[in-house]
Amino acid sequence: MEKVKFGIIGIGNMGSAHVVNISNLKNCELTAVCDINPEAFKRIDEGIRAKLKLFTDPEKFLKEADIDAVVISVPHYSHPDLAILAMRQGKHIIVEKPIAVHKAEAERMIAEAKKYPELKKSAMFNQRTIPAHKKIKQMIDSGELGKISRVNWIITDWFRSQHYYDSGDWRASWRGEGGGVLLNQCPHQLDLMQWFFGMPCKVRATAKFGKYHDIEVEDEVNAYLEYPDGKTGNFIASTGEIPGTNRLEIMAERGRLVYEDGRLEFKRNEVETGIFCKTTDKAFGLPDIWQCEIPVAPGSPTPHKLIVENVAEAILHGAELLAPMEEGINALELGNAMLLSGWKEETVTLPIDSAEYAARLGKLVETSRYRKKSVSAAGNPDGFSSSF
Ligand SMILES: NC(=O)c1ccc[n+]([C@@H]2O[C@H](COP(=O)([O-])OP(=O)(O)OC[C@H]3O[C@@H](n4cnc5c(N)ncnc54)[C@H](O)[C@@H]3O)[C@@H](O)[C@H]2O)c1
Repeated sequence: MEKVKFGIIGIGNMGSAHVVNISNLKNCELTAVCDINPEAFKRIDEGIRAKLKLFTDPEKFLKEADIDAVVISVPHYSHPDLAILAMRQGKHIIVEKPIAVHKAEAERMIAEAKKYPELKKSAMFNQRTIPAHKKIKQMIDSGELGKISRVNWIITDWFRSQHYYDSGDWRASWRGEGGGVLLNQCPHQLDLMQWFFGMPCKVRATAKFGKYHDIEVEDEVNAYLEYPDGKTGNFIASTGEIPGTNRLEIMAERGRLVYEDGRLEFKRNEVETGIFCKTTDKAFGLPDIWQCEIPVAPGSPTPHKLIVENVAEAILHGAELLAPMEEGINALELGNAMLLSGWKEETVTLPIDSAEYAARLGKLVETSRYRKKSVSAAGNPDGFSSSF
């Protein structure tokens, strides 16, 4: 096999971008697409569309299309069912973020994935390919920063208008989407949090539901995290602030690393903080601090393409996956833990009880005012899994 034959399920905002990206990759060939709404195919450039087989039934698509691998880019509730159907048909998968709406669903998917070790399974965590994020990961893992004591991520530059929320009837309702800023916009940062720092053992968060928009789900979250190694963290997210901030600050023994406005700056202590604290004979002095700007290449304008390319290389030549699907459960658990803490108004310990989370979310789904507006999923006409 020289090229991997790809298909895409869900030709919406993201799926139509995947069409263009995959059509331009050397190690891939886009052969078929599927959307339950045939109007969606109009989003595909005529020249590309003419070469594709079009399907409106996901099961038929997965059985009959001439594909080795599939990108699943439908609303989140349908990710697990479609991923499982695809694996059962022997297809390699790339699942859009978040891999599921709640942890129990991710557990179901991962349990099924274990049955197909020969298949490559990836999540679309395209932000792992951003050069600055790769550099941060490298600096942490190499020990360049020393032991990390505190991390702060303010990620409020996800502003979304009411028009955005009204643009898809599945959006921003418990029944249609299953969450807000933590589930739709922040899975990338939540994934990077766990990729960089591991998982916390305790989370205390507040969540505001419809603070800035006429929506059911959270559009502002303030979370405090505690890690098993003593690190603390803060994670602040919003879709209602203008101008927004995207600032990651990492305090470590060796100094402070900040990533903001595309710049990575390391203020490096000549002497590690702990050593200086114990050995200095001055009451108020500081060690010398070097200001280092870390060079980072600009990110690819199409980082999603790099994930697809990587999966194709994994299929063709055994390359290591950049974003294994199974790791997607961590970002989900982080977001679920924040909401659970907000609902209960108390600190929650991790790992969270996935059944408790599913039960609480299920109650919100039952009373969701968007009851009539839910989307359809394969084998699941109401658009969400039977796990409630
Ligand atoms: N990785 C990223 O950077 C990124 C960016 C945007 C969206 N996303 C993710 O992509 C997914 C889709 O988001 P979107 O903004 O493209 O949504 P969208 O509403 O624009 O498009 C969804 C499409 O899926 C179709 N669909 C729904 N259920 C289906 C089913 N069971 N089978 C086949 N087609 C079905 C709909 O008809 C629609 O055309 C979401 O999970 C979202 O989080 C990822």
